Amino acid sequence: MSKKVRKAGITGVGSYVPKNILTNHDLEEMVETSDEWIKSRTGIEERRIADDDETTSDLAYKAARKALSNAELAAEDLDLILVATMTPDMPFPATACLLQDRLAAKQAAAFDLQAACSGFAYGLSVASQFIASRAYNNVLVVGAETISKILNWEDRNTCILFGDGAGAAVVQSLDSGGILANVLGADGSDSEVLKMPAGGSQKPASLTTVENNLHYMEMDGNSVFKFAVRIVDKVALEVLKKADLTPEDVDFFIPHQANIRIIEAAVKRLNLNEEEVFINLDKYGNTSAASIPIALDEALQAGRISMGDKVLTVGFGAGLTWGANIIEWSY
Ligand code: COA
Repeated sequence: MSKKVRKAGITGVGSYVPKNILTNHDLEEMVETSDEWIKSRTGIEERRIADDDETTSDLAYKAARKALSNAELAAEDLDLILVATMTPDMPFPATACLLQDRLAAKQAAAFDLQAACSGFAYGLSVASQFIASRAYNNVLVVGAETISKILNWEDRNTCILFGDGAGAAVVQSLDSGGILANVLGADGSDSEVLKMPAGGSQKPASLTTVENNLHYMEMDGNSVFKFAVRIVDKVALEVLKKADLTPEDVDFFIPHQANIRIIEAAVKRLNLNEEEVFINLDKYGNTSAASIPIALDEALQAGRISMGDKVLTVGFGAGLTWGANIIEWSY
């Protein structure tokens, strides 16, 4: 067998969002906020919320099935399942293992990847290394979240921003095109600005942690905003340079769907045209690791990506973490 590095690319995409819609007007009844404030500060109009008994692996399963069907790949042929999530069904076992069982993907190794909202960008990069090194042929990367379950619905700083959903991509080897370059990064010195303080070894779940709301997400929105505005175009330029490309070569840009103002700042600095940028955060809010694959699936369904297009994705989130992929579309 040749030891030559192989090209890896996406050969099937799928997504799923829960049916329950929570609008900004609904939130007006829950916290002191307004539709106008949320829309003008974030671009978000509504988001999807999982049922009480609907789990991250439920959403992941539905997205994964569609991705496998689009790739015309049987689950039993998967070598690896990777679930990027910060809202697993439970701390362990990995949600990827629960998904592996539901898919009956008996040959597949399975693990979760925790890079918060950068999870899908990290996942694509990890998958492409396994393909390039010839360790595996068929990898399923899923970004799936039920953020609604870790939100404090009395905290208007966070509860207006997020939503639930899942997106999945099958990564396989290709003769040409595919994932041209990846960039990943992290800065743990800013880990305080976005976190869920309790439930781990630092603050094991207890009556006190629950009474103090430490099992919910906490965020310093301004610091995260400043970081995001700084990082998106920087990491975009970095990944393009790695692939010997410039922003002019980008045909389609899928940024992490966190806040329209963050996206607009990056688009301006990268000098991209508005029609080259995909936005669906108005419908779903920030779905964390699911945001890029859901957007990718919707862009494909809408016929906005063609064969040969250079598709740029950039994610960023808690950690702090960031990641970008530049993909020459090939299916
Ligand atoms: N509704 C109404 N008012 C609100 C509010 C809400 N949901 N949330 C905050 N406010 C108030 C604040 O209390 C503040 O009031 P004050 O001026 O009386 O103190 C005012 O609105 C402005 O708050 P500020 O935090 O400066 O607003 P902002 O323009 O920075 O927008 C965010 C806040 C959260 C939308 C913004 O910081 C953001 O998007 N940050 C990034 C978050 C993110 O993307 N996180 C995930 C990353 S993966």
